[in-house]
Amino acid sequence: MNPVVDILSLDHEGHGIARIDGKVTFVDGALAGERAEISVYRKHAKYNSANAVTILKASAQRTEPRCRYFGRCGGCSMQHLEASAQVAAKQRVLEDNLARIGKVKPDVMLSALHGPAWGYRTRARLSARWVDKKGGALVGFREKRSSYIADMASCEVLTPDVSALIQPLRELMDVLSNADRIPQIEVAVGEHVTVLVFRLLEPWSDDDAALVREFADRHHVHIWEQSKGPDTVRPFWPDIAPELSYSLPEFGLVMPFRPTDFTQVNVAINRALVSRALRLLGPQAGERIADLFCGLGNFTLPIARSGAEVVGIEGSTELVARARANALHNHLANARFAVDNLFEMTPEKFAALGHFDKLLIDPLRSGAIEVVKSLPESGAPHRIVYVSCDPATLARDAEVLVHVKGYRLEAAGVANMFPHTAHVESIALFKRISIKIQPLSRP
Ligand SMILES: C[S@@+](CC[C@H](N)C(=O)[O-])C[C@H]1O[C@@H](n2cnc3c(N)ncnc32)[C@H](O)[C@@H]1O
Repeated sequence: MNPVVDILSLDHEGHGIARIDGKVTFVDGALAGERAEISVYRKHAKYNSANAVTILKASAQRTEPRCRYFGRCGGCSMQHLEASAQVAAKQRVLEDNLARIGKVKPDVMLSALHGPAWGYRTRARLSARWVDKKGGALVGFREKRSSYIADMASCEVLTPDVSALIQPLRELMDVLSNADRIPQIEVAVGEHVTVLVFRLLEPWSDDDAALVREFADRHHVHIWEQSKGPDTVRPFWPDIAPELSYSLPEFGLVMPFRPTDFTQVNVAINRALVSRALRLLGPQAGERIADLFCGLGNFTLPIARSGAEVVGIEGSTELVARARANALHNHLANARFAVDNLFEMTPEKFAALGHFDKLLIDPLRSGAIEVVKSLPESGAPHRIVYVSCDPATLARDAEVLVHVKGYRLEAAGVANMFPHTAHVESIALFKRISIKIQPLSRP
């Protein structure tokens, strides 16, 4: 018989937490305050993993998932929780991490940045596979906890135009002779163009190429192909096409990009995040500012608009070239860029970059501990805005900034970049309070 449990709270992944004879049990599909019949699918030494089978007492915050594939598709995990409660849960995750890992508390919790809850996703990697048992091709996200592709015909978080392409893409794959040699289709939506990048393990046949061209024309999309590594990505049809781009109207910027370049997935939240980051950073003409992990210049160019001198540093040569081109495109001469591996930052390398008044940091999930540890004792930037896609590493780095480097955590808050997923994007403002006094040298 299935156990019946009370859900005590929600974990950082959006699972309910219950106890069975004292053992922690993470329940997929159950919310805090609920009573549920559950089925345990894995027993670990210290905890169980379970699925909710029947909700016997529902939370007031439970809502009907909009997507009919929710629960099977691995793309979303929180559609059953009201959108505002999702944001509150993310805010709690951020506060918990800062307190538990970083042993810090922001002076101010910033209001969460909200955007549209549906149809927001402009980037995706869709998996593709011919499945004999289904008698056709599947195109979509992977199923939860599985390498199988979800049998889906639409998606509520992709932009509506891209969602509407899933079924036609499946039909296209059904008629291509080499569908089993196309494992992935990457999607990038720009303001004027949508690009689909087909990962090809073998070239198109002439017949397939004609079918793909006809698909592109019928659905008003541009097709690119990728035969091997990232340097083999190139336009297929139309072969001469306008560039993808997004804009940051508050700063009068247009940012062209290639379909495989890193860009933030949620255009509305990205605009709000850039705007908040710039308000917190407060760049001024005459200042020298660094933007670390700068990508194609998403924060660098808005900083440059203020008149400050800005140096963007980034690990990818292609993105630095793109950032330079974007600075030119927007007539900004006060933004410079350099390629460097910031995971190998040292105090010596940091000092060699020269003095910075302020810093913006936007690293990958693994954070920026090497950068943080390399900040000098004297003459360090007096203000740091840290944009993070993992609150655990933000908290780890915050501990060093606050307890070792003499900063104060003035403010922190979340940006709901990925509604209906457990992903927590956040932003934090650090200000330097203690400047170590160097002992006076005696004559
Ligand atoms: C979260 S993205 C932020 C990009 C940019 N700030 C934006 O908003 O579009 C992180 C960036 O870190 C870069 N990166 C990854 N590894 C790196 C490394 N070892 N050193 C420097 N940059 C790296 C990635 O190429 C990516 O552009």
